[in-house]
Amino acid sequence: MLREPTVADAADVLVFRGDPDVQRYNDDPLRTVAEAEAFVEYLVAESAADLRRHWALELDGTVIGLMGLHSWHRQHRRAEVGCDMAAAHWGRGYASEAAAAILRHGFTAMRLHRVQAHTIAANTRSVRLLERLGFTREGTLREFSLETDGRYHDSVVFGLLRPEWSARRG
Ligand SMILES: CC(C)(COP(=O)(O)OP(=O)(O)OC[C@H]1O[C@@H](n2cnc3c(N)ncnc32)[C@H](O)[C@@H]1OP(=O)(O)O)[C@@H](O)C(=O)NCCC(=O)NCCS
Repeated sequence: MLREPTVADAADVLVFRGDPDVQRYNDDPLRTVAEAEAFVEYLVAESAADLRRHWALELDGTVIGLMGLHSWHRQHRRAEVGCDMAAAHWGRGYASEAAAAILRHGFTAMRLHRVQAHTIAANTRSVRLLERLGFTREGTLREFSLETDGRYHDSVVFGLLRPEWSARRG
């Protein structure tokens, strides 16, 4: 189920946002429930300000992931997709299913023309997810970020336009 996140989800959120493996190509891992509460409060406040829309992925009463459309530019009708999910639930298609629903919301209710994504090239699961959803690999930002392995990593820009999304849906 996709629903709005609340501060009460903080302990569940800490499981994945606090996991160094899940966060390997993302922000630094959260360390405490208080940090997770502050993070969810930030998502809720940004959603309330219409700067993003964010959803909790709930499975059997537990929040196993977060996915949303952020950096929403109404004038240009574009937003950026971001997601993370607890590693115990990888490889079952949940992120693909959730992302398909969120893209539908983005291209209809939010009236987006373009959804984009930035991901580190070595983040193969993220790259596969975007390709599976029909995104086009548009370019490489060379040595864009200094990661925890002490190396600079390329970042890849992906984009999906509304007509392409529509055509895939037949
Ligand atoms: C990005 C992330 C959400 C992708 O998770 P994922 O488990 O690979 O994606 P899905 O849940 O869609 O699962 C797809 C896999 O399940 C398999 N699968 C099984 N049943 C499936 C079904 N019914 N439908 C679709 N896929 C299914 C697919 O074949 C695929 O397997 P593969 O990885 O061997 O190709 C996850 O890796 C993650 O949280 N990473 C850390 C955070 C992160 O890096 N986020 C991106 C930052 S830009």
